[in-house]
Amino acid sequence: MSQPNGGTFDIVILGAGSGGYAAALRAAELDLSVALIDKAELGGTCLHRGCIPTKALLHAAEVAEQTREAEQFGIKAELLSIDMAGVNAYKDGVVARLYKGLTGLLTHNKNITVVAGEGKLVGKDTVEVAGQRYTGRNVILASGSYSRSLPGLEVDGKRVITSEHALRLDRVPASAIVLGGGVIGVEFASVWKSFGADVTILEALPRLVAAEDEEISKQLERHFRKRKINFKVGKPFEKVEYTDNGVRATIQGGETVEAEVLLVAVGRGPTTAGLGYEQQGITLDRGFVITNERLHTGVGNIYAVGDIVPGLQLAHRGFAQGIFVAEEIAGLRPAPIDEAGIPRVTYCDPEIASMGLTEGRAKEKYGDDKISTYNYNLGGNGKSQILKTQGFVKLVRLNDGPVLGVHMIGARMSEQVGEAQLIYNWEAFPEEVAQLVHAHPTQNEALGEAFLALAGKPLHAHS
Ligand code: NAI
Repeated sequence: MSQPNGGTFDIVILGAGSGGYAAALRAAELDLSVALIDKAELGGTCLHRGCIPTKALLHAAEVAEQTREAEQFGIKAELLSIDMAGVNAYKDGVVARLYKGLTGLLTHNKNITVVAGEGKLVGKDTVEVAGQRYTGRNVILASGSYSRSLPGLEVDGKRVITSEHALRLDRVPASAIVLGGGVIGVEFASVWKSFGADVTILEALPRLVAAEDEEISKQLERHFRKRKINFKVGKPFEKVEYTDNGVRATIQGGETVEAEVLLVAVGRGPTTAGLGYEQQGITLDRGFVITNERLHTGVGNIYAVGDIVPGLQLAHRGFAQGIFVAEEIAGLRPAPIDEAGIPRVTYCDPEIASMGLTEGRAKEKYGDDKISTYNYNLGGNGKSQILKTQGFVKLVRLNDGPVLGVHMIGARMSEQVGEAQLIYNWEAFPEEVAQLVHAHPTQNEALGEAFLALAGKPLHAHS
């Protein structure tokens, strides 16, 4: 691929991750010319260091668990060992195939010019890459995020690592401390435990996955206890020291935990430093780019999308924002994106999938007496029993009003989030959803049954 020498475009996009490349593809469909700039591989964090490789690891972990538990299903099998070289080859193969497809999609598009190199915003309409200037009638900032650490906690990439290092480990650590019981923390804890490591999660807040509904956290904690994943909640991490064979972490109160590695999973920070944003007058708050609801920065024709914009740092939010801004620039006046209408999935074992408001948030917003909830236990769901999984579907509704939240936990529940998001985003009433026929026997039926019960006509439900 030959490198272009600058030029003028309808849109210059800085960053080719989920947000940036989605904007490029949609803009190209709308016949706008695009320069898409990235210093690393097309596809960004999600494809190379995030969603895709971690979910491949989680699938390998599921295969390990199923082999271990095969006898429950009358199948004789023995888990001999985890061959990390083989696991990594499988994971890298998935990434490579998707990367090849995406590269073809972008580089063969006549309206998209891919520019390889580090870009910097040097004017309100110009990004410079290796001395060449790319001028855009519009600019989209999509520079993404990086793994944060804590003050004084130095990541050496060997014993104190981030998810990027964890994805490239050539061995299963004998033991691991996971600092942070958020999404990345519980996903890696789940993988490593399935691969045979002794895992301890340290979380400052009172519960794991604290952004989820409280009952979901409780169920996850119950399940993690059963899986012998250790966790200590409610006490912040204080320090880490090196030992002969690994690390020792201390939490508030002086309690210590030792392990071979410590994974830092305390959130991701926006990649905005040194890129010239502030010099052009763009407002940053703790590094995040502030925009209005139409994702405009308030400066020139500069927009921002993805993880640099405060809110959920999720690839599908990036895709949606990228499409939104491309349409906005094309003059289509798209409807703004409702952040609460974005599905959230955590792929640990058991999986968590949620939509809309938690019970707590719904009560805060509408008042305790305006909210009803219903929990449908997967114990009554045939397919979940076949899979031998436990969990529930929890619904939150406004009394005499629409569904405000759907929260699910159990094996494979990620796949149920599609219907949940339609229900939430179309502001469906439980009585309306209860009329829809759900296929039997599927786990999806658990959603249908939960709505039947909330509409006052339960079928396979024990009260
Ligand atoms: P997170 O914000 O989900 O969790 C970080 C956790 O670290 C929080 O629970 C926080 O209380 C804890 N923490 C912070 N400081 C601490 C301290 N001093 N001591 C103990 N605990 C401390 O961030 P995470 O898991 O790093 O993920 C980053 C981003 O990546 C998230 O926004 C997430 O949405 C996204 N992501 C999404 C995935 C998915 O959708 N399945 C998978 C992985 C990441």
